[in-house]
Amino acid sequence: MKGLILSGGKGTRLRPITYTSAKQLIPIANKPVLFYVLEDVSRAGIKDVGIIVGDSAKEIMDAVGDGQKWNLNITYIQQNEPLGLAHTVMISEKFLRGSPFVMYLGDNLLKEGISSFVNNFDSSQAQAMILLAEVNNPQEFGVAELKNGKVVRLIEKPQNPPSNYALVGIYLFTDIIFDAVKQLKPSWRNEYEITDAIQYLIDKGFTVEPHIVKSYWKDTGKLEDILEANRLILEDIASDIQGSIDEKSTIIGKVCIGTGAKIISSTIRGPAIIGENAYIKNSFIGPFTSIGNATQIINSEIENSILMSHSKIIRLRKRIEDSLIGKGVEIKRETKPPKAYRFMIGDHSQIGIY
Ligand code: DAU
Repeated sequence: MKGLILSGGKGTRLRPITYTSAKQLIPIANKPVLFYVLEDVSRAGIKDVGIIVGDSAKEIMDAVGDGQKWNLNITYIQQNEPLGLAHTVMISEKFLRGSPFVMYLGDNLLKEGISSFVNNFDSSQAQAMILLAEVNNPQEFGVAELKNGKVVRLIEKPQNPPSNYALVGIYLFTDIIFDAVKQLKPSWRNEYEITDAIQYLIDKGFTVEPHIVKSYWKDTGKLEDILEANRLILEDIASDIQGSIDEKSTIIGKVCIGTGAKIISSTIRGPAIIGENAYIKNSFIGPFTSIGNATQIINSEIENSILMSHSKIIRLRKRIEDSLIGKGVEIKRETKPPKAYRFMIGDHSQIGIY
């Protein structure tokens, strides 16, 4: 079994973060989403993995390297334009042909991992396997219509979904998928849809086995999903204190504090993670918060948020909540007039002030 991990695309729903950073590298509990995917693939016993890269190729390659960290052999496959999930299969044929493969979207997070699906597929006669999860907003996904436990129809982002079963971004295929993708025409959103390719297999009478996932699954394509994924991962962390905490600070619940981090006169209420060399002074870090490496929080409060590395939050009067803050950002209250808001922020930034 080989792996195909998708780490191209544009990430338009996460601008401005994705103007400067790949969406698959957004940290969840201080670890890029893509690393959870690589761990899952490696744990399933897969060794040879192709990673689809687009505009952010360099950043992805710098982060993942040759894959030795996960005991994987990585081949990078450049996709010049994000023409769809099925397009990534077309351009990977040379790498994949001759072996069944698992295709894993680099922004998906599945708690139970993929080992059982990979084992199942290896021993089954099916030509494809899809994973489904029940969701409240099926119109935002590919959706499956099932009859007597069999998939009869798949539709991409339907206005009137025939069920609540969303397609999880993890698919298992045999070589027959290369025939299917070659038949495709671009969809209404001008992409070659993997959903249509699987529908082709169904129409031709091939076996497409559905599996309903029971553990949590998150597509981290939007802010609220990223924050939820962060909450879900933090709920499961074990406390690990490496940095220093002074006697005036209080740590409550499960908290990880990285090497070189300093906590001074502050309260940290877990679950929370504080990165290496972070500096927290006279502040409150509330539940479900991830603070990146070398980030400083001084005289401020924050909860249910992700702050990436090398940022500074200083003297804010109100608590920061439900926020995703990028790298090297500075938000501080001035101590001298003029009493005004002064911003230097990029395109598509979102600021909520009360
Ligand atoms: O997350 C599950 C959903 O993923 C499924 O329910 C849908 O059926 C499926 O089409 C897909 O929908 P999205 O609209 O969420 O896909 P997105 O464009 O966000 O791309 C998913 C990942 O694949 C993302 O990490 C970027 C990468 N990608 C995407 C495209 C279109 C590529 O590498 N190349 C591409 O051409």
